Formats: sequence, C-alpha cells, structure tokens
Amino acid sequence: MSDFLIISATSGENKELAEKFAVSASNQGHSGQVIDLAEMDLPMFTVARSKSHDETPDISDLIERMIQADAWIVVAPEYNGSMPPTLNNAIAWISRDWQNFRKMCTGKPVGLATHSGGGGDHVIMAMRQQFSYIGADVIGRACVSGRNKEANPDTIDAMITNLAN
Ligand SMILES: Cc1cc2nc3c(=O)[nH]c(=O)nc-3n(C[C@H](O)[C@H](O)[C@H](O)COP(=O)(O)O)c2cc1C
Repeated sequence: MSDFLIISATSGENKELAEKFAVSASNQGHSGQVIDLAEMDLPMFTVARSKSHDETPDISDLIERMIQADAWIVVAPEYNGSMPPTLNNAIAWISRDWQNFRKMCTGKPVGLATHSGGGGDHVIMAMRQQFSYIGADVIGRACVSGRNKEANPDTIDAMITNLAN
C-alpha cells in the first residue's frame, strides 16, 4: 500500500481533479490525502519575511506530510503559460530549509496533472522542469484536462498504478 499526497494548487477545478486521484488511490488499495495550497493562504515569500520569525508561516505539518508520503501528485492550473503563484510560493517557503528540502525531494515519485483554461501543456512542462530540478522522479505520463477536455479516468488510474510502490 502506498501513501499518496495530492497537492492541489487551487481550490476549484484542480481540487476536484485532485479528489479524483484520491478516489483512484483508494480504489486501488492505497491512501490518498488532498491538500489545498490556496486554502493555506501562505504569505508571499520574500527574503525579508523569511528572516522574520513573526512573519514566517508554520508549514511544519505540510513538510511532515510531504516527507511521509510515498509519492506526490501535483495538480495545478496553467497561469500565463506557467505555474500559478500558490505553487511557486509554497515551494519557496518549503525550500527555505534547503538541505532537508533536497533530502525530502530526492527520488520522490511525482505525477503531474492540470485542469486549465486552454491546453495546460505549458504548466505540465513548467512543473516537470521544477520538480525534476529539485530531484524528484517525475513520471512521463501526465493528466491534462480543461474546459473542453475531461480528465481521462484511465490516465488517472494508470498514474496511480505507476507511482505506487
Ligand atoms: C491569472 C490567470 C492566468 C491564466 N492563464 C492561463 C493560461 O496561460 N493558460 C490556460 O490554459 N489557462 C489559463 N488560465 C485559466 C486557468 O488555468 C483555469 O481557469 C483553471 O481551470 C483554473 O483552475 P481552478 O478552477 O482550480 O482555480 C488563467 C487563469 C488565471 C486566473
């Protein structure tokens, strides 16, 4: 049994897509927990804020869940041909403790998904570059959906199967 952490960058269609991954994980005998980065409402990362104890958000629970998970699915909408700020911002905060960050990311199996206005291929490329750069093992198959394209349930199931231990 694998423990999936499904990270949704936003609270709308992408969270709904994230929930579909959680259902697929559960149907395949795994556990899948969804977290919503938009709901966390982290302050914008700046170096000045990160040096101020009062202004640094407590993300220890998020980091612990990321460490404990066997695999991550990252679900995010395309914004201007790239990743949305909630995801970028969360990564910046998490990477503050960069040595532990690298340790947590290295070799982590990661799947990517999007529900975007148009194609969504650009955000998949941006996330692939980002998560590969931080040392994760990003699988080739991704789930791309949008206004005119439903998420393919077979792709969701196959990604869960592929990422499971
Ligand atoms: C600031 C902004 C920029 C966007 N840029 C793009 C884009 O470049 N490509 C695209 O396909 N959709 C773009 N969209 C549309 C979102 O990807 C789309 O509405 C998505 O489904 C929103 O996800 P959500 O319902 O989870 O918030 C953009 C939306 C916003 C708010």
